[in-house]
Amino acid sequence: MTAETIAATTSSVTIHPGWVRVCHWINALAILAMIGSGWQIYDASPLFDFEFPRSIALGNWLGGALLWHFAAMWVLVVNGLVYVTLGLVTGRFRRKLLPIYPSQVIADVKAALTFKLAHDDLSHYNAVQKVLYTGIIITGVLIVASGLSIWKPVQFQEITAFFGGYDIARYVHFFAMAAIVAFFVVHVALALIVPRSLRAMVTGR
Ligand code: HEM
Repeated sequence: MTAETIAATTSSVTIHPGWVRVCHWINALAILAMIGSGWQIYDASPLFDFEFPRSIALGNWLGGALLWHFAAMWVLVVNGLVYVTLGLVTGRFRRKLLPIYPSQVIADVKAALTFKLAHDDLSHYNAVQKVLYTGIIITGVLIVASGLSIWKPVQFQEITAFFGGYDIARYVHFFAMAAIVAFFVVHVALALIVPRSLRAMVTGR
């Protein structure tokens, strides 16, 4: 097989089907709107001894931020339900994210820290990617559930009780946001370091 044939064969492999790419980019936009407006809402009643600068927040004031937050919430939840349902039904989550072996995670973290983690095969996630993607999907469920319990603590009182009450649900919501921001920084940096992976999330191949 010539180098051209190998290149042609490998470039035609579908790595991310259309539904993954559409859901992924809608999710990225919705998350940015949720976080930006969430920071502005936080500033109206901070949990900690700091506020987010208005220049990086969305909505300009509490009322505007709430409108953004509740509009993007529907996009995030509907899109998230489509992604999680298809991920489970098509077997993608099982194939791409499981199993996760702790020994493999430790080995891959060590390899990543010494810049020896291979990225040749984009169709296969290494153990670090599996942990990060599974973790961020669970964090997504957590941030929506804690958000529902502080938005409608009477109507969703079972979920609020699950978190141990309104006040704790607020902290859970905040720390889930912080985890998503941390994931986002690492995730985007890695996508830029390995541009082929970014191309695959755009074109699918
Ligand atoms: C502008 C921002 C973003 C960029 C450039 C980006 C880029 C990418 C790329 C290139 C991949 C494929 C990576 C690979 O092969 O390992 C990917 C996958 C993924 N990203 Fe992002 N991403 C962004 C935002 C987000 C956000 C905000 C989330 C969630 C909070 C997210 C969650 C995921 C997940 C769960 C996957 C795995 C999807 C699957 O295989 O089913 N991404 N992203």
